[in-house]
Parts: sequence; C-alpha cells; structure tokens
Amino acid sequence: MILLTSLKSQTKLAAWRVVVRTLKVAVVGAGGGIGQPLSLLLRRCPGIDELALHDITDIKGIAADLSHVSQTGKVVGFTGEQELETAVSGADVVVVAAGMPRLPGMQRDHLMAANGNVAVKVATAVSNASPRALLSFITNPVNMIVPTAAEVLKAHGTFDPRRLFGITTLDVVRSKKFIGDSMNISPDEVKIPVIGGHAGITILPLISQCQPRYRCDPQEIHKLTHRIQEAGTEVVNAKAGKGSATLSMAFAGATFVDSLLRAIGGQEDLVECAFVASELTDAPFFASPLQLGKDGIKGYVPLPQLSDYEKEALEKLLPILRQNADEGVRFARTFLKGQSESPVPAALP
Ligand code: LMR
Repeated sequence: MILLTSLKSQTKLAAWRVVVRTLKVAVVGAGGGIGQPLSLLLRRCPGIDELALHDITDIKGIAADLSHVSQTGKVVGFTGEQELETAVSGADVVVVAAGMPRLPGMQRDHLMAANGNVAVKVATAVSNASPRALLSFITNPVNMIVPTAAEVLKAHGTFDPRRLFGITTLDVVRSKKFIGDSMNISPDEVKIPVIGGHAGITILPLISQCQPRYRCDPQEIHKLTHRIQEAGTEVVNAKAGKGSATLSMAFAGATFVDSLLRAIGGQEDLVECAFVASELTDAPFFASPLQLGKDGIKGYVPLPQLSDYEKEALEKLLPILRQNADEGVRFARTFLKGQSESPVPAALP
C-alpha cells in the first residue's frame, strides 16, 4: 500500500515535470524603442521562467524595473558584447530587436551596412551558446538579415531551417487592422495571410484569402495592398527622423514569440506567417503561413490559389527576394572572412 502510494505520487511528479516546462526567452536590443515594450509584453506571456535582457548599453535599470512586474519568473540584464553569449545561453527563444531604425527617405535595405553585423554576432552567439533556440529577427532589413544569419549558422554547423525566423507579424497585424476598420469589424475577427518578404512590394497581403471575405473593386484592392506595403514608411514619416514603428512592432513581436512559446509548450494548432528558409517558391527565403511545433516550423502551409493581381505581384517580388538573399549571404561571407570588424550597434532608439 505504501509502495503503491509512493508510486502514484512519483507518477504525479513525473507528469507535473512534463507539463510545467520552464522557458527562457532572451531579448537582444532590449533597451531600445522596440526592445522595452516588447520585454514588457513578454512579461505577460505565461511560462517564461527567465527573461534575459541584453543590450550594448547598460540594461540593469530596465531589468530591475521589469523584475517588479507581478508575474512569475525572473528578469536578468546583460550588458555589452562580452555578455551576449551568456544572455542567450540555453534560451528557448531568442528575439532580436537590436539595430538602427530607418529615417525618412531611406529604404529598409539601406540599413544593411549598419545592422548586418547584428545578424552575424547574434547568430554566432546562438551557435555557441544555444544552438537549439528559436532565433527570431525583428532587425531590418529582414529580407537580408535572415539569409545573413542562416549563412553564419551554416558556417558554425548549427543551421536548422525550422529554427530561424524573420518576424513579419506586423504586416499581418496591419492588414487585420486596416481591413477590420474598413469592414467595421474587430481586427481580431480578420484572418489574412501575408506572404513574400518585409519591405515595400515584397510584402504581399493575400486579400483574396481574407476571412471574412473582403469584397471590393480592383482599385480598392490595389490601394489597400499599397497601404499595407508602405505602412512602415507611414510611421517613419510621421516620426519625422525619430525612428520607425516601435510600439506596434513590439506588439507584433510579442504576438509571434507568444505563439512560438505555445508551440514549444505543445499547443497543436498554431499557424503564423514568418520569413524563413523556404522551398515554396524559387526565392530561398520567403514569408508564408507556417505550422508551428516544439522545434519551430512543423510544416509549410501550401500557397493557395492566388488572384491574378496577386500572381503578378508575386512574380515581381521574387527576383527582389532572391537578390536580397544573395546580398545577405555575401555580407555574412565577407564578415566571416574578417573583412568587417564593426561592433554590434546599440538597440533601436
Ligand atoms: C515596419 O514595418 O514598421 C518596420 O519594418 C520598420 C520600418 O523601417 O518600416
């Protein structure tokens, strides 16, 4: 009888161990305009046992501040390039918001010179300290940063296409908001895939697939598509030299990380759009809806039947994505050869 009771409690304990999985999330660039609200929103995600905040400038005050939020789990700050590996060590998810933002008149591509080394340094640190982490980049230009990081991970023998993401959730968030407002319904009720990449015409909202159905004429479809493609620029211009989207990006980033964490925790039905290594088209990296699982990407949702407008837009964006990927790979190779020695830039202001 005693044996039976103790066996029962051991089984219970084992079950408890399986269900309550503690998670570590590292935010790189946590002191910046995106990093701070993102870290705050992540405090609301259940199951994060450790939130590791990293920035190039002193992050201790922000870590202390966030550690007082009445949620379980600890918040730890790591400062400087020398602490990057410790910050990401053993992380389940690493989300990267470090880098410089756009100024009016700039395209996202123009940021590669300033931000490319973020991809190199973080991918190197992840390779060394947390090769199984789900590594997610907010840092622009996403279309080049993700191929750069992939190349660095390959050089370290740690590349797993299921575990590397460019976060394009803001394109979905914007699409839901603009369409929801236009249909006079809650954005939460709107479901729409956004494919391609995360810059200008590479952002392709599939309005033909919108649920509930969005009925409008071709001019309106073009106007809405253009608004979604240029929404980042709308914010850059409104901020007039003080940076780009930070709060809506933090919202989008936290939404995406929350889905990754739920998938790690075993939730089955999760689908998110993200920019990843992909064989769906002839671009080596492509954003599309993905089924998420414990190890990151569990499956690629096949592309649906596109409208003629969307087919034409897809044909136009694919060469841009191929070129962006080439440039990202070239950047990584140059950097790996030691031809670029600049340090990791500070967080987005
Ligand atoms: C965005 O979409 O708002 C971000 O990619 C930032 C930018 O430069 O537009």
